[in-house]
Amino acid sequence: MAYTVPKLKSFTPAALDKAAEKLLASLKLEAAAVKNEADWKVFRDRWMARKNGVLTEINDLWLKAAPKEAKREVGQRVNELKAAVTATVEKARTGVTIAPAPAVAKVGAVRPSVSVEPAALDITLPGNRRPLGAEHPVIKTMHEIVSVFRNLGYSVEEGPVIETDYYNFEALNFPPNHPARDTQDTLFIARQESKPQRDRLLLRTHTSPVQIRTMEKMKPPVRIVIPGKVHRNDPPDASHSPMFHQVEGLAVDANITFCDLKGTLDHAMKALFGSSVKTSFRPSFFPFTEPSAEMMVSCFICGGSGKRGSEPCRPCKQTGWIEILGCGMVDPNVYGFVDYDPKKVSGFAFGMGADRIAILKYGVDDIQLFFNGDVRFLEQFG
Ligand code: PHE
Repeated sequence: MAYTVPKLKSFTPAALDKAAEKLLASLKLEAAAVKNEADWKVFRDRWMARKNGVLTEINDLWLKAAPKEAKREVGQRVNELKAAVTATVEKARTGVTIAPAPAVAKVGAVRPSVSVEPAALDITLPGNRRPLGAEHPVIKTMHEIVSVFRNLGYSVEEGPVIETDYYNFEALNFPPNHPARDTQDTLFIARQESKPQRDRLLLRTHTSPVQIRTMEKMKPPVRIVIPGKVHRNDPPDASHSPMFHQVEGLAVDANITFCDLKGTLDHAMKALFGSSVKTSFRPSFFPFTEPSAEMMVSCFICGGSGKRGSEPCRPCKQTGWIEILGCGMVDPNVYGFVDYDPKKVSGFAFGMGADRIAILKYGVDDIQLFFNGDVRFLEQFG
């Protein structure tokens, strides 16, 4: 038997309680019976229609009919019931699938309806747009570098930022206690002394450990790029940050030569900085490459002249060249750590600082700006 709003004979709190209880029980029962959109509309109208809806009726039969001294109490109850009814009707709606707005559903039908039910989903309204953030300039630069190498057929590998001594140093041909380790001011994880040295944890100082991790799991040919975050114990200033980013590369195959290294990197620099840049290699040292080199690119700010008008060019320190990366042929000792046969394979590796490249590309004069989190600065790069 469907619920009808009774006239109240008594307006005492007890009588009101009882009436409200009955009403709410029916509300609950009817809500549970809602199975589809048509049901829901009937349900909504029965309880909320302005004319003859249950809410209108309790207003008329309970509140308006209440004697003066009971009005406050009854008003409060009626308000509570209104809130309960509204919430229940709203909730019942989420359980049913809502058909598209009639105006849309009936496009091309005999007589398109123009009235859109407020309860229906109107897909013609603009959506709630979330403001889009901007890609961080360093990440953006890393993506650009990676995509240059992806276009050459390289795949992407990543590795842990918290690394073991073995991967960060030993397998890269830095023997324990070797002074070459001093060139990379390392941040060590505390309380590792009880472990054998090779298992002790540190924050990786370069992305090179991922060379080893990759060669351990992959047989040649290998062509990979490794973007990632690295740490060194450098005090922060305009050009140093204890946290920075590198993009590493590794190619190992049969018969890879220094010419392949030069050609690949020359191409990459032209793709990144424009086809007119020149590259130049100078001898250097890294324990895991032999021979090793530093690659310079002609300064794309002053065009290699060392001057900007009558001013000295600062980014290249007036030399016309900018040091951009370290590289070399993979040292045969490294192959010994990953079970590659140095008689059968050869390869090259390189590593560049992505933050430094971003600084040069965007003409930023302080690396700290990248990491301070000032949105006014960062959103300029979107
Ligand atoms: N890992 C070196 C550094 O961070 C750079 C490098 C990578 C050099 C690969 C040679 C080959 O300084």
